[in-house]
Amino acid sequence: MRVLLLGSGGREHALSWKISESSILEELFIAPGNAGTKNHGKNINLSVNDFEGIKAFIIENAIDIVVVGPEDPLVNGIADFFEADEALAKVAVVGPNKEAAQLEGSKDFAKEFMRRHNIPTAKYATFTKDTLEAGYAFLDAMKSPYVLKADGLAAGKGVLILEDLDEAKAELKNMLADAKFGEASSRVVIEQFLDGVELSCFVITDGDAYKILPEAKDYKRIGEGDKGLNTGGMGAVSPVPFANPTFLDKIKNQVIIPTVKGLKADGIKYKGFIFFGLINVKNEPYVIEYNCRMGDPETEVVIPRLKSDILDLFEGVATNTLSERDVQFDERSASTVMMVSGGYPEKYQKGKQIFGLNSITDSIVFHAGTTPDGPVVSTSGGRVLAVTSYGKDLKTALKKSYESVGKIEFENAFFRRDIGHDVL
Ligand code: AMP
Ligand code: GLY
Repeated sequence: MRVLLLGSGGREHALSWKISESSILEELFIAPGNAGTKNHGKNINLSVNDFEGIKAFIIENAIDIVVVGPEDPLVNGIADFFEADEALAKVAVVGPNKEAAQLEGSKDFAKEFMRRHNIPTAKYATFTKDTLEAGYAFLDAMKSPYVLKADGLAAGKGVLILEDLDEAKAELKNMLADAKFGEASSRVVIEQFLDGVELSCFVITDGDAYKILPEAKDYKRIGEGDKGLNTGGMGAVSPVPFANPTFLDKIKNQVIIPTVKGLKADGIKYKGFIFFGLINVKNEPYVIEYNCRMGDPETEVVIPRLKSDILDLFEGVATNTLSERDVQFDERSASTVMMVSGGYPEKYQKGKQIFGLNSITDSIVFHAGTTPDGPVVSTSGGRVLAVTSYGKDLKTALKKSYESVGKIEFENAFFRRDIGHDVL
């Protein structure tokens, strides 16, 4: 199979690492990729949203399947673009179409979907600038803390959780009337605050059958003890100790099955990964959000625990035969610790040379924000490296990840020292 993978983060490095092991792989290209993906395939200098450029590349290189890493091209309709184009009709896309990607692209769409299909989630209402007064009244009737969510994609910054009622009202006005997040906040979902511990679950589906992948927990805040600004994710572990078989069964029956069936019932053909952002409230799972792709850095612990051939699963998605494919998992635990550029998630510097990568033997170093710089590797993003390890348990895996992190250096490198501590 000739494969094009879109994206350039740690998620895409982990996917390319796994795809490269497939017995049915002929050639792998990654667009645009990073200094890590180039060890598993050929990096192509194309942007993930350059659909015409991608089309030309696919035709020229006889690509059979396109795997879409990030949400942007999905929400922008890359799958629809392929379906509408005769020249691309035979090329399979792993990733949902524009309508299905609304599960991530519109909070209101996702909430309405969950309400329609009785999927447990926080109570909510949606407002626009024309219903701002009703939004204030809705906030008056709720208890602190107040959860405000920009409807559209806002680069992970569109959720505000506020203690103070007046501040919540001011932010609601900022979002709706003053376009704080641009078009993304032209609608705002206000929802009930849920108190509990979060975890993420993942499914791959061809629209009918689905396979559940290992669950994971990520660490979103920059600071230890879950303090400070939100980031893309500072580390992850899998499995999640509190997700015992009873709880996982609840997730399957109350969330996963109703979601896959609900999509089908709504006439939405969903092909690809579904990411369930969940919260455990007194041993009941609630959906915080859906994403239409794999998580990052969750992929860096979930995919290493997949033993089966990932291209076999992708082929199942492409040909509606996922039900016939076998999926096996590694019993070992996996952890990943993210090394980031000093200053991230605010201003940070790029172009720092990374040292020590070749000395790592006990971990897999997935590149998140790196670029090849002649013979060396340099930083090119906020999140730079995801250092993944296996262990007989999480404690052992984490110990290895931290030992490896200790051997890698770049100027102003930062990482959290408490990944996994809360669940050990
Ligand atoms: P989201 O972008 O929807 O994942 O929200 C970002 C983060 O805000 C989540 O990971 C949660 O930590 C938090 N969050 C979102 N919605 C709620 C809620 N209803 N109750 C409590 N925390 C929430
Ligand atoms: N780690 C959270 C995400 O990928 O959205």
